[in-house]
Amino acid sequence: MLNCVYAGMRVATKAQMSGIAVQRNCNWYRNGRGERNYKVTVVGAGGGIGQPLSLLLKQNALIDDLTLHDLSPTKGVATDLSHICTRTHVNFFEGVKQEGLIDSLKDANVVVVAAGQPRKMGMTRDDLVTANATIAMAVSCAMSISCPEAMLAFVTNPINMLVPIAAEFLKARGVYDPKRLFGVTTLDVVRAKTFIAEFMSINPSLVDIPVIGGHSGNTILPVFSHCSPKFTGVEDDVNRLTKRIQDAGNEVIAAKAGAGSATLSMAFASAYFVNALLRGLNNEPNVIESAYVSSDVTDLPFFATPVLLGPYGIKENMGLPELNTAEQAALENMLPELGQSIQAAIRLAQFVLKESNVGRAQGEATASASSASAQLA
Ligand SMILES: NC(=O)c1ccc[n+]([C@@H]2O[C@H](COP(=O)([O-])OP(=O)(O)OC[C@H]3O[C@@H](n4cnc5c(N)ncnc54)[C@H](O)[C@@H]3O)[C@@H](O)[C@H]2O)c1
Repeated sequence: MLNCVYAGMRVATKAQMSGIAVQRNCNWYRNGRGERNYKVTVVGAGGGIGQPLSLLLKQNALIDDLTLHDLSPTKGVATDLSHICTRTHVNFFEGVKQEGLIDSLKDANVVVVAAGQPRKMGMTRDDLVTANATIAMAVSCAMSISCPEAMLAFVTNPINMLVPIAAEFLKARGVYDPKRLFGVTTLDVVRAKTFIAEFMSINPSLVDIPVIGGHSGNTILPVFSHCSPKFTGVEDDVNRLTKRIQDAGNEVIAAKAGAGSATLSMAFASAYFVNALLRGLNNEPNVIESAYVSSDVTDLPFFATPVLLGPYGIKENMGLPELNTAEQAALENMLPELGQSIQAAIRLAQFVLKESNVGRAQGEATASASSASAQLA
């Protein structure tokens, strides 16, 4: 069942590791601590985000096993990646069968989901829920069998809805741990850093700013009052840049003129977030990233804030930064919209769960995922 791309390469790599030749000449895969044991599965690995994300993860020194899954063929992508001279092994699974997804997730430490339709011109992210909800449901069912303790990170939109849907399905399967479920909002932070650095004529890597809320339109709230270094613009600049960060996805969609949404910047952002999860698993101190997670910092059950990551997922939610008057107003303005998306998502998940036979017994999960898809269709 397991399609190991390069069994031969594994043998060769083992031989190289026991010898000196490769280690002497190639030190880019060594992290100096010998902790390279993690398995990451990318679901949707054949897509516009999935491919460059997999390329970046192939270079991550903490990943021992990079497994690709997609409905469309992944053999070519996996073979191509496997020629890159890092020690990470590349495996692949492809096709529509839930069994393939279940096998691809076996013993994964991190599952990153970049599968599903992207937005087209004029669509909101929530418009994608009908197309992409089944993916959250299928992955949650498969995870409950293959890697119930993995970190599950959703790139797929609408993040505001898919994370609550996944939570309902994981609960139904008896494996929900709110500390291990994430919506990847890193691209909002990446964009904020870039646009602020442009404005202040500084290196983007020097910029730090929390981005809170959700991941669509005005639910994306960059907290300029906590920007480091201190933001030098006036109120108009804050408003203009906030709008640009919120609408940056549309900027890419328009520039690509019908050829999809952000892929390369999102691959960068999600690889960055996966690396943060792995550093947390590795028990590195002070790994803090913004993410959309189960939360009690507002009245809503899910909300993005900076979280401290550790070996068991979220160690601590850093909570809401102190907001100025304008930011407080923006927060209050977004809560009803975000709340409605979350409630709609939970209702949808509960409807599908009620109508389908998603149960806790492991043997039922394969049928359950197809049954859930059928209900949604
Ligand atoms: N979180 C963010 O900031 C952010 C940014 C950009 C895009 N996105 C979202 O990421 C998702 C992917 O975008 P893209 O541009 O890579 O799309 P894409 O169409 O290029 O790729 C999607 C891939 O998913 C695969 N796929 C579809 N259904 C699947 C399933 N059930 N199981 C496995 N694979 C499946 C497709 O075969 C395809 O290869 C979209 O939902 C998009 O809206 C999120």
